[in-house]
Order: sequence, then structure tokens, then C-alpha cells
Amino acid sequence: MMDLTAAFDTDAILARLKAVLENGRYINGPEVQELEQKVSDYLGVEYAVGLNSGTDALVIGLRAAGIEEGDEVITTPFTFFATAEAIHHCKAKPIYVDIDPNTFNLDMDLVEKALTPRTKAIICVHMFGNACDMAHLEQICQKHSIKLIEDCAQSFSGTYHGKKLGSFGDVGALSFFPSKNLGSIGDAGMIVTNSHDIYTSAKMLRSHGSLKKYHNETIGYNSRLDTIQAAFLLEKIIKIDEAFTRRNEIAALYSEILAGNKGIHTPKPVQGHGHSFHQYTLRVEGGRRDGLKEWLATKLCDSMIYYPIPLHKLPIYQNSDMGPLPISERICSEVLSLPIWPEMSNETVEKVAELVQDYFRRS
Ligand SMILES: Cc1ncc(COP(=O)(O)O)c(C=O)c1O
Repeated sequence: MMDLTAAFDTDAILARLKAVLENGRYINGPEVQELEQKVSDYLGVEYAVGLNSGTDALVIGLRAAGIEEGDEVITTPFTFFATAEAIHHCKAKPIYVDIDPNTFNLDMDLVEKALTPRTKAIICVHMFGNACDMAHLEQICQKHSIKLIEDCAQSFSGTYHGKKLGSFGDVGALSFFPSKNLGSIGDAGMIVTNSHDIYTSAKMLRSHGSLKKYHNETIGYNSRLDTIQAAFLLEKIIKIDEAFTRRNEIAALYSEILAGNKGIHTPKPVQGHGHSFHQYTLRVEGGRRDGLKEWLATKLCDSMIYYPIPLHKLPIYQNSDMGPLPISERICSEVLSLPIWPEMSNETVEKVAELVQDYFRRS
């Protein structure tokens, strides 16, 4: 699906890692603060707090935003389970709202209908790197005095009307999992915010509930971002805009070749939404998605189903009545993500797209 080793200059990385080894400050070393500053400058936000994963960024982000037991948090069923797991970790309740089949993001009309007096937050997920309708979400959250959390695990470098994703909500939760747009060489994450209170609270939560060593004020976590990951990411972030441009070129080439194939829907650009194409995801109609995946595999071409099961249908909810959410249920049987990474050549993109076309010619 991607070649992670192609994404960096080994000599430059080794120089960064050597500096960490020699410095000896393996926890909370200077690279962590440098990365927090770089990311907050890049996204145009006041504060950033490095954490050990995107999952922790959601849990700590929700807690720092004041979400607690009994609260309802509206989110999408078409995402990775970590989004909902974070809500459960706060002993709050996820309220799943169906998605728009074209953007794979929350359907705004349904969000309004799902609000109750217990709703305390919305987690929007910029799925596959495609921006949610931030103007609408901001308006709903302001009107009802609820928090907005952006799950930006897949959307680093994406924009909405020129403004970077992650800078809209009370909290932006970032993942630096290796395969993400800004990927590390292990687990890492971060929250970004413009709120000093959320920033302070997140810093406390990441360090066992203490801002001052041995003065613990709450039950927190050991969730620091490793210095070595920060050093790696400082090198990688240099090329993030280049990577964004290249991901868009690859997506445009796929869409150009695949346009007009009956039964396939390619991602449709939305005016003002700067898609960062973490994934290039097709919708395959007519029950032919699994056949296409198998065909690609016989030609040694990877493809992935993100996600095969909408969250409300997961075994964990087998005794709960959380549906129906018909669009998400249908979309899970239609989506197929094709290989994409910034260093992918046009020839490889063309080869993959031709294999997809071959399948439809044959079947
Ligand atoms: C939408 C979404 N949210 C959260 C996460 C969790 O991030 P991490 O793996 O860094 O914990 C992921 C990672 O796959 C994700 O895709």
C-alpha cells in the first residue's frame, strides 16, 4: 500500500538520531518542544502537546475538554475504532450519526437531529484526509455550547478554505503512526489547541496528572512523545507540503484514468476542501468490491478495505441497539483503498489503475 522507507533522507535522519543518543535526554528532550512549536506554527494554533499516540490524543483531548461520565459525544461510525474507544475511556457515550456517501464524513443534517441536552461534544473525523464541513460544525457547536474535537489522525496537512485542519476545533488530535501523512518510526501523537486551559490540562494528563513533579493533582497517564520520534518527525515535516502536493497529483492521475468506468466512484473534489489523500478510496458498486480486491491480489497489487464494519455493528455493541445507519453499512461493503504514497511513481499509479480497469473489462 505504501513504501515507508522512501519517505526520508537516511543520512539526515541518522544525524538527528545521533544527536539524541549523544544528548542523553531521551524523555522530554529538546526535540519534543521543537516539534510542538513546529507543528503549532504549521497548523496556525497556539499550543501543542506531544503524546504517545493518536489514540491518547483523543482520550486526553476529550478529558482536557471536560468530557466525563454520562456525557454524549456525537461521532461517525465510519472510522477506526480508536475514535469511539476514546469516548468510552472517558465513560461517555458515543452517538453514531450516519455519513455522506460522497465525502465519507458526517452528514450535517443528521448531526443536528442527534443533539440532546446531554451532548457535550462532537468528534468529527476528516476521513482519508478529506475535510469535514467545518463551517457547519463550528456553527452547531457554538450555538449549542458544545466542544468540537477534530480527529486529524488521517488529515495532517489538509485544509478547509485555506485554513489547516486541526485549527478549527477546541482540540485537534493528531496521529504520527508510521503510515500517516506525517508518520514516525513508532507510535506517536499530539494534541493542538488554542485554549490555554486545555493545553495545561493535557500537559498534566500526559504526565501522571502532575504539572509539577511528585505533585499529582489527578489520575493521568504516562503518555509522552519519545524524543527519538520527535527527532525523526522534525526531519520529516520539512517535506510535508511537497508530500501533500504529490498525494494530490497521484489522486488526480488515478481519477483521470478511472473516470468513466461504470460501477466505480472515484473521490469527488469538494470546493474549498484541501484533501490530503491519506488514502485514495474508491466505491465499487454491484457487489464487485471483493472480486476486485482478489483480482488485484493475484496481480501482487495491495489494496485495503478501510473499514469493513461500521462501528455500531462491531461485536462490542452486539447487545446494543445503535443502528440502523444505512449509508455507513452500505459504504463498508463498497470501499476499496488503492496504494498511495508521495514517492509513488506515475508509472506505478498507471499500472494499478490499469489492473483495476482490466478487472472491469473481464467481469
Ligand atoms: C481516524 C483515526 N483515529 C485515531 C487513530 C489512532 O491513532 P494511533 O494509531 O496513533 O493511536 C487512527 C489510527 O489509525 C485513525 O485512523
